[in-house]
Amino acid sequence: MTTGITHPVLDQTGQHLLFSGAHSVRHFSDEPVARGVLERAWELAKWPPTAWNCQPMRVVHVSSPEGKARLLPLVDERNRAKVEQAPVTSILVSDYNYHHDLPELFPRAAGLREMLEEGPAGLRIKHAHFNATLQAGYFMLAARAVGLAVGPMAGFDAEAVTDEFLDPDTMHALVLVNLGYPAPDAAVIRLPRLPEDRVVTWV
Ligand SMILES: Cc1cc2nc3c(=O)[nH]c(=O)nc-3n(C[C@H](O)[C@H](O)[C@H](O)COP(=O)(O)O)c2cc1C
Repeated sequence: MTTGITHPVLDQTGQHLLFSGAHSVRHFSDEPVARGVLERAWELAKWPPTAWNCQPMRVVHVSSPEGKARLLPLVDERNRAKVEQAPVTSILVSDYNYHHDLPELFPRAAGLREMLEEGPAGLRIKHAHFNATLQAGYFMLAARAVGLAVGPMAGFDAEAVTDEFLDPDTMHALVLVNLGYPAPDAAVIRLPRLPEDRVVTWV
């Protein structure tokens, strides 16, 4: 029996903004990014799922000249101009101590916090990295949804960035994401994507 209710679908403009029309941007205009835009991005980025609803990703927005000066030497040389030019470079972080929040975030699993606290640290860290990495993907989509151009970068010294900006005993820098508005020369040729028949199998 059909209910007659149709499921909402993102229109083509939205699909283009988030997926088919979105590029990794390496040249940004001078237009600054208002704090409110980044706050709106987080209001979207916070919703998608994580295991146990654990939400281990943390974000450090680096936008001040002082912050950029601390970050720049820790970025691969080929990426330095991109970081220098982007109005904001966000450090997306995995927080191993996410389990402290589990009684609030996932109250139906009594004892989970203690299990993770007392169990092998490797398990807790593995979950932190995996789920924070998922959140990093959601974060980039959310930034695009509020009109920002996004330039992810793994070309940096993650240990050094962790030491410089974070508590290295409990956190790890996963990826840098440049954020801003594209410069007129930002457009790049679309790189190919794998077609469904090389990726998907049906069983
Ligand atoms: C995890 C990750 C790390 C990346 N690291 C770098 C980087 O260090 N420097 C850079 O210029 N681009 C980097 N990129 C951008 C990719 O090269 C780019 O997303 C990919 O080639 C697809 O290009 P497109 O988004 O324009 O289609 C990175 C992207 C991701 C997701």
